[in-house]
Amino acid sequence: MLDIYLGDNLDILPGFPDGSFDLIYIDPPFNTGKTQGRTRIKTVRDETGDRTGFQGARYQTIRLGNQAFADVFDDFLAFLEPRLRQAYRLLAPTGSFFLHIDYREVHYCKVLLDQIFGRESFLNEIIWAYDYGARAKRRWSPKHDNILWYAKNPTSYTYRYDAIDRIPYMAPGLVGPEKAAKGKTPTDTWWNTIVSPTGKEKTGYPTQKPLAIMNRIINVHTNPGDRVLDFFAGSGTTGEAAARAGREAVLIDESKEAVEIMSKRLAFAKPRVRLGQTNAPGRKKKAETGSPHFAGMTGMRAEDRGPESQNQTPVVARWKCRTNCLAKDSNLGPAD
Ligand SMILES: C[S@@+](CC[C@H](N)C(=O)[O-])C[C@H]1O[C@@H](n2cnc3c(N)ncnc32)[C@H](O)[C@@H]1O
Repeated sequence: MLDIYLGDNLDILPGFPDGSFDLIYIDPPFNTGKTQGRTRIKTVRDETGDRTGFQGARYQTIRLGNQAFADVFDDFLAFLEPRLRQAYRLLAPTGSFFLHIDYREVHYCKVLLDQIFGRESFLNEIIWAYDYGARAKRRWSPKHDNILWYAKNPTSYTYRYDAIDRIPYMAPGLVGPEKAAKGKTPTDTWWNTIVSPTGKEKTGYPTQKPLAIMNRIINVHTNPGDRVLDFFAGSGTTGEAAARAGREAVLIDESKEAVEIMSKRLAFAKPRVRLGQTNAPGRKKKAETGSPHFAGMTGMRAEDRGPESQNQTPVVARWKCRTNCLAKDSNLGPAD
């Protein structure tokens, strides 16, 4: 079962009962003060085109549009804290929580998470190291993200050692042929390239994370049939890893563009796409919670009623129809 919700996660999360999820992974927008963006292009054969391709053929570049979201919060920790508290509440007793964050924020988040989970629940800081892009000339080029792992109960959590993928030894000659052929388990430093701008994995969504990272987290930290939550889901990388590994998943994002992209990406798993509750009674209005991504949804209360997983209509088509229909109907109730 794969559920996608459109809406502010802080409006949607309280609707789930305590202990609903075996794994929660989040990758919130970093507090970089930048706008994350990417221009999507396609190329068509054209003798007068601006690019040279295979065997010297000429291609014209066509800009399909820009995708962007503001990657800035006035008070990042105040934005994050209530969401982290929800994550703690929603974790099953043997569940794990992963926060994917960058080096400028990680230390603040670690202190906050220690308060919420307890210091003893902190198990690893995983460094995702990559090696792509321009090099700084006045300092060491920062080429890593940080992923903090907390277990709800540090003495009882899912860690499937045998499900860890193996990586090549750096000096295979030192360990003998049998070990070299088997490979070794990774440490807390994971070398993995970013999503290639020209590769098959790319969805075009800014900040899309590599599937290989999510595959490893989900395979090792959940069992088949477990339930996974990503409430800053973006292009749906967590959903793809979960669905392909036979796990259930709930994905939340407040960007319509993200929901469209992940719905298309995850069509193979027949997701149910819902409009989340964005203005529930007793909830703060978006302006008070600090996120700049709310404008288009303010005042909309809508729900996607009834199971749709049996419906064979392409997900994106259903999604577009639903957006148009529901936006006009203010009498619909909250999402379940
Ligand atoms: C860094 S991206 C996640 C990328 C994702 N891990 C992937 O692989 O594509 C962060 C996402 O959080 C979403 N977001 C920001 N504030 C949110 C909120 N309050 N509720 C739900 N989603 C939010 C943004 O729309 C964006 O898609």
